Amino acid sequence: MHAPIALRDIPQSNIFRKGDVFILFGELFGRGYANGLINEAKNAGMTIIGITVGRRDEHNALRALTAEELSEAEVNLGGHIINVPLMAGFDLDAPDDESTPTDLLSGMTLKSWQQDKLDWQHIEKCRETGIARFKNSVARVMQELDDMIPDGANAFFAHTMAGGIPKVKVFLAIANRIYKGRGERFMSSRALMDSDLGKLILMNFDEVTAHTFQYLIEGSAVIRTRLTKTGGQVRYTAYGYHGTEILIDGKYQWQTYTNYTQGQAKMRLEQVAVDAWDQGVVATVYNCPEIRTNSSDIFAGVELSLFPLLKALLRENGGRWAEAQWQACRPLLQDGVTLEDLLQKIEDYNNSTVMAEFRNFTAWPMDNSEALSEAMIGTSDEIIQIHKDRKELVVGHLSALVLEGTGPLMFHETSNPAGPVLWLGHDIIAKQLNLMHGS
Ligand SMILES: NC(=O)c1ccc[n+]([C@@H]2O[C@H](COP(=O)([O-])OP(=O)(O)OC[C@H]3O[C@@H](n4cnc5c(N)ncnc54)[C@H](O)[C@@H]3O)[C@@H](O)[C@H]2O)c1
Repeated sequence: MHAPIALRDIPQSNIFRKGDVFILFGELFGRGYANGLINEAKNAGMTIIGITVGRRDEHNALRALTAEELSEAEVNLGGHIINVPLMAGFDLDAPDDESTPTDLLSGMTLKSWQQDKLDWQHIEKCRETGIARFKNSVARVMQELDDMIPDGANAFFAHTMAGGIPKVKVFLAIANRIYKGRGERFMSSRALMDSDLGKLILMNFDEVTAHTFQYLIEGSAVIRTRLTKTGGQVRYTAYGYHGTEILIDGKYQWQTYTNYTQGQAKMRLEQVAVDAWDQGVVATVYNCPEIRTNSSDIFAGVELSLFPLLKALLRENGGRWAEAQWQACRPLLQDGVTLEDLLQKIEDYNNSTVMAEFRNFTAWPMDNSEALSEAMIGTSDEIIQIHKDRKELVVGHLSALVLEGTGPLMFHETSNPAGPVLWLGHDIIAKQLNLMHGS
């Protein structure tokens, strides 16, 4: 991909209706992107089915949800959940009675991790064990699912899985420095990438974030063939990230959060969709804007690109509703600070030479640098401080709007998608939101 392929026009088609089935491949969290799609599927009258990643017992063994956890999750989803644990990644997998990758990492310390080496032959066995476990579980899920989707119905599989950070103390400390550290606490993301620890983490990201989409497409082949033969259609979507076009200097320009360690995995996810498309399977990765969710909270500064959405809302023919979004944000700031001051700070930040250097699409995902961390994390801290309450942020409001806008865009585009990889920039999100709110 040499340039982002942006969705520019609001999609109008919809093949999904009552009796069709929407399957969420990942768990649903309060602020998570998947809520946007689920809302649309419910509005269309579709049957909602979900999965669980399962839970770990006190010995780290993966288990299904208890009856209580299951009913809570089903209420939250508004649909039935197939209770077969689909935790992806191999950080806690190993052949019987052997050490897991997490066991191997647990000996690393903040002093030693850059020199510590891993036994790659052993890691490979763990990876194979994890993949076999996941694929077997997918097969069980698909067997149950097969009985739930009637002949001739349409099915919408929405992949939302991303993650794979192993739970070891040393990485928590490193992550705090790489994603949140500046000045003396700055740590180079390249140092992580060059270490065995980093290489293992990237392999695990590939499994969770990218390969699971492939396993989903392969695992649902029987259902896909049956539905297609009986007059139904099957669609697959996944959430990608590969930078976003936002308003900088009065123009929509591509920019990105750096360092996005999962970037390579997200490009593999795109490739899964491209390969599926070549085989006649309609799978689309939607590269979505940066928002604050349970998963992105770790990346300090990822939220900075959200602020210009306010300008995009006005630019895209925003009327009363768009202006009301500005008014809703104003009281969140401390007395004496205006929203215009805040937006000017973001404009200056984006126009700085430090940030401009990172707007390099072909070099993505780039490593961090001290200057970048200083500018990004510093600006992020300053902006949080000019709020009245750090739990009630302007970006919280804007994240909810982006999530709301992506729902109908992805849902309708997926009926007849233009290609396997599409970017949703602030322009189309703002257009969609203005349309929905009659602005
Ligand atoms: N938040 C952002 O800024 C942003 C931007 C673009 C794309 N995305 C993508 O959107 C999708 C949803 O993320 P979100 O930010 O809404 O957060 P979220 O926390 O709501 O969703 C994360 C999802 O990953 C699943 N998951 C986590 N670890 C897993 C594992 N080991 N095995 C299987 N599943 C696992 C969770 O069950 C959940 O469904 C992800 O693919 C994410 O990369 C997020």
